[in-house]
Amino acid sequence: MKRLLMLNGPNLNLLGKREPTIYGNSGLEEVETELRELLDVHGWGLSCFQSNHEGELIDHIHKAEGQFEGIIFNPAAYTHTSVALRDAISAISVPVIEVHISNVHNREPFRRESLLAPVCWGQIAGLGTIGYKVAAQAFLEAEK
Ligand code: DQA
Repeated sequence: MKRLLMLNGPNLNLLGKREPTIYGNSGLEEVETELRELLDVHGWGLSCFQSNHEGELIDHIHKAEGQFEGIIFNPAAYTHTSVALRDAISAISVPVIEVHISNVHNREPFRRESLLAPVCWGQIAGLGTIGYKVAAQAFLEAEK
């Protein structure tokens, strides 16, 4: 069975409660369930992991090699700081799509820069949690 991995970084465990005017009212579990349902229709599986710890995210990226067709990754604040996550993505051959719920380009200037986007297949920002589904759709289309 073809499978995707959805990774979410720091503070995204608080989705739905955290700054809802920016990140919306849906919780992470709800977003994961909707994504699982979408992929299920196409016969694909989904694994999900959220962590507030950079090293745990790195470990999951390493372990994804050979296991998944793609990774949907919202690195949250690590997007703007983490050379280690960038190197982890570069170290594997699984394609990664970077997703941001908010439009990082119309917020504080420090959110405009992603250290990870240059080593990702693509980046989606500003579509709310729909962005995760758009990323899944891209992987489905690419594998047709
Ligand atoms: C975010 C944007 C980041 O700048 C921020 O640190 C987050 C969430 C988003 O999904 O819009 O935690 O990745």
